[in-house]
Amino acid sequence: MKKICIVGISGKLGQYLTEHALARGYEVRGVCRPESVDKLARFGDRITVFPGKTNDRAVIAEAVKGCDGVLVVLAPWGVQRYASGTAQAVMDFAEPGARLVFSCGWHISLDGKDVYSLKLRLIVGLFGPIARLLRFAELDDQVRATDLIFQSDKDWTVVRGSNLEEGESEGLPVWAEHVGDPVLASNLTRRTDFALFMVAALTNDSLIGKAPAIVSRAAPSAQAAQEQAVAA
Ligand SMILES: NC(=O)c1ccc[n+]([C@@H]2O[C@H](COP(=O)([O-])OP(=O)(O)OC[C@H]3O[C@@H](n4cnc5c(N)ncnc54)[C@H](OP(=O)(O)O)[C@@H]3O)[C@@H](O)[C@H]2O)c1
Repeated sequence: MKKICIVGISGKLGQYLTEHALARGYEVRGVCRPESVDKLARFGDRITVFPGKTNDRAVIAEAVKGCDGVLVVLAPWGVQRYASGTAQAVMDFAEPGARLVFSCGWHISLDGKDVYSLKLRLIVGLFGPIARLLRFAELDDQVRATDLIFQSDKDWTVVRGSNLEEGESEGLPVWAEHVGDPVLASNLTRRTDFALFMVAALTNDSLIGKAPAIVSRAAPSAQAAQEQAVAA
């Protein structure tokens, strides 16, 4: 892995992705809305920015050229199929064989075998229609985006983040195939570690074609699972 592109580089997750990718010595390119370019000032000439909406196919085509890996922040903002347009553009223009790693939340399901708490079902069930009504987000477009990814023959990984918090890294998160697995019960990950997991996935071929749901390795549920494994 030498050259990577971060699509949605200016957001909170995108900036952590940038820090981890630079720390690994990758050449970093990124796409963000023109009005957000200034948020990246601290990275100076260590990154190359392609200003544009992340679903702008011409901008994505240029930005991902020659990249071995693409990290994509799937954002459901607005009601213009932003997430699915972004995912489709990345899959259409990424180099053959490039590793593609996408972010989303636990509400996305690869195989329908996730078991959700009543609280999560209520949040998604209420937030989705309200957000669409107010025209600030369309959660179902993130579902559309990941369905497109799941059906593609690319080398993809979809990383499903738990609730997020700020703070120092606690190390690489642990993961499970399905929400409902007891290891995930604490439902909390530092945002920097969500990014750490995505960057690590670029070079972890065992995650190709998977949708890991993650949680902090320091979370009580992860610690309990670790203690059980040691005791067994
Ligand atoms: N927040 C959570 O609790 C949570 C939990 C689980 C998973 N996730 C996942 O984590 C990822 C990142 O989420 P985050 O909450 O940390 O957000 P974030 O990284 O701060 O922002 C996400 C992206 O949305 C863009 N954006 C914001 N407003 C926009 C608009 N009106 N139109 C177009 N783009 C807009 C941002 O670009 P600009 O810099 O240009 O604004 C940024 O690239 C997402 O895939 C999300 O599904 C989040």
